[in-house]
Amino acid sequence: MAHVRITPSILNADLDNLESEISKISSVSDLLHLDIMDNKFVPNLTWNFEAASEIIRKSSLPVDAHLMIEDPDIQAPKYAEIGCASVTIHFEAAQNVRATLQAIRKEGARAALAIKPNTDFEVLRDFRTELDMILIMTVEPGFGGQKFMQEMMGKVRKSRELIGDADIWLQVDGGISTETIEIARNAGADTFVAGSAVFKAQDPAAMVTQLRKLATK
Ligand code: DX5
Ligand code: ZN
Repeated sequence: MAHVRITPSILNADLDNLESEISKISSVSDLLHLDIMDNKFVPNLTWNFEAASEIIRKSSLPVDAHLMIEDPDIQAPKYAEIGCASVTIHFEAAQNVRATLQAIRKEGARAALAIKPNTDFEVLRDFRTELDMILIMTVEPGFGGQKFMQEMMGKVRKSRELIGDADIWLQVDGGISTETIEIARNAGADTFVAGSAVFKAQDPAAMVTQLRKLATK
């Protein structure tokens, strides 16, 4: 079994006490998943580049930036440059997917490509050699706390096949909880975003540990 990574999303954490929220999960998590939304690509607004930079600078965990914005070609390399460990762009938003993935890598971050639920798996094939991570969205991007779309598991299985023995992580994002993580793991995912499951739990660190255990067994 591939290495399992748990990447908590702070979208539904207590945003007034972010540092303390991050510190609750930092010793048990692999990366911090940061959801950047511009109210254009998705109908929700989170942090702009300046605000995100501050979170990234202060975070005790390496950051996995998920860019749900309409101009990732311009923004993504900037997130890589300021030290994100991984930067994800959406296929549906990027003007030049290949060049943007290459620019992310050039700045020293892992380059990742996400597809929304209605986007065909096949679009990913072309970019295999440019990718360090594939993100299969298991909800419509925009909000935390939505229901896991099990019908996305076909795309996860196909991604696992496409990856073969390449060093490409396979992430799922949306509705991951103790109820659903094994379904995603069985389909081939190895990197799991969990937002509300972690930050609505009484003990977020224990929840991360429990999710990891379920994904590993
Ligand atoms: C949704 C975001 C997710 C979100 C996941 O657009 O990309 O990262 O925070 O939240 P949960 O785990 O609650 O579905
Ligand atoms: Zn996300």
